[in-house]
Amino acid sequence: MNLEATPTGSASLTVRDLRAGYGDVRVLWDVSLEIEPGEVVALVGSNGAGKSTLLGALSGIVSVESGSILFGDVELAGAATDRIVHAGVVQVPQGRRLFGGLSVRENLLMGAYLRTDREVHADLERCLALLPRLRERYEFPAGRLSGGEQQQVAIARALMARPKLLLIDEMSLGLAPVLVDQLLGILAQIHAQGVTILMVEQDVQTALEFAGRAYVLETGRIVKSGPAAELLDDPSIKRAYLGI
Ligand SMILES: Nc1ncnc2c1ncn2[C@@H]1O[C@H](COP(=O)(O)OP(=O)(O)OP(=O)(O)O)[C@@H](O)[C@H]1O
Ligand SMILES: [Mg+2]
Repeated sequence: MNLEATPTGSASLTVRDLRAGYGDVRVLWDVSLEIEPGEVVALVGSNGAGKSTLLGALSGIVSVESGSILFGDVELAGAATDRIVHAGVVQVPQGRRLFGGLSVRENLLMGAYLRTDREVHADLERCLALLPRLRERYEFPAGRLSGGEQQQVAIARALMARPKLLLIDEMSLGLAPVLVDQLLGILAQIHAQGVTILMVEQDVQTALEFAGRAYVLETGRIVKSGPAAELLDDPSIKRAYLGI
């Protein structure tokens, strides 16, 4: 289902010459990429390539050494996480990072902690309409849910922050294909509601079949980019990531 861009009113993301890492260890080397409003873009690469580090830098969790991250006309490089979320860039982290002892409802409300508007409860209802399974599990501790359900909570928690650009790290990890398909269906609905998506996936095949465009990251550098369908056909991608 290659999802094509659907135009929305939201901002484009322009990353230029981004260097970032941990202390003295640089992980990202001059990364540049562009995401237009309404796109679904995949970021693929092997273990340790720096995919999560890149999402971390976009989210303000990993410190930026140099370069620029423009979202619309707002500079996000070096900005605090709160400000980045407020600007509309929200991450669903690798490993889900739920509050395991808190209920599904409480986890979702955590996603709205920056909001002061009166539509939080209406948005909870919207999330439950999109993810009906969570209604059945609403008062359960998130830690007792199955992996697929926990991933749904992580996605819903991000939605509660009203993202314009949703960053999703390894959504499919550890989940059976049938659950991955279900989650992709949910992502397609979120996209149809006007949310731009950047998905990081080790499952390159799944990511390239779902996204409209993709970037390939190797040892902290973007080595390839283009329409996802073209990358699926690219012999070097097939060899390196698809085992064909
Ligand atoms: N908190 C950290 N402190 C120091 N080094 C880190 C930290 N997190 C990641 N790294 C290192 O940064 C590099 C990139 O890691 P990163 O997690 O971004 O890769 P990834 O592409 O997301 O890999 P994976 O597919 O395993 O999730 C690796 O060499 C990793 O060891
Ligand atoms: Mg990662």
